[in-house]
Amino acid sequence: MIAIYPGSFDPITFGHLDIITRGSELFEQVIVAVLCNPSKQPLFTVEKRIEQIRYCTQNLPNVEIDSFTGLTVTYAKLKSAKVLLRGLRVLSDFEKELQMAHTNKTLQGEIETVFLATAKEYSFLSSSVVKEIAQFGGEITHLVPKKVAEDIYKTYGITT
Ligand code: PNS
Repeated sequence: MIAIYPGSFDPITFGHLDIITRGSELFEQVIVAVLCNPSKQPLFTVEKRIEQIRYCTQNLPNVEIDSFTGLTVTYAKLKSAKVLLRGLRVLSDFEKELQMAHTNKTLQGEIETVFLATAKEYSFLSSSVVKEIAQFGGEITHLVPKKVAEDIYKTYGITT
């Protein structure tokens, strides 16, 4: 069974990598799908995010990286995927995630959303938190892979 793991991944964190790794043990194939969202001003281009995710998942042979525009369910159908994979961190995630899952179900009833509880050590972690710390020169190497941390500091013009 193919699962799509959609998201912004701006940038990928250890929390995302935990979900990808555990998802790759549950599904035959996991496609990490980076959303091209023209209405958002990201830190990294979609190409750069794909490069970062590819680098961090090179040890996982059944994980593929791609990008998409438009609706996640349309992309999932195109890829013949039956599952959308999402991580749940804390209760505040639940409302938005449940709304998305229900909305997606009304659009493509045959596609199921499967939630994995994020590892508890990453329950506080988000791409936004990482960016907030990094722009003030704070330590992020415990939150994102080293190569990604280097990219982030470089983008903010911070020398470490
Ligand atoms: O990493 P994120 O930003 O929490 O991911 C959100 C994402 C990309 C999964 C969500 O915004 C999404 O699926 N966007 C595509 C548009 C879509 O399908 N909308 C309908 C579901 S509400």
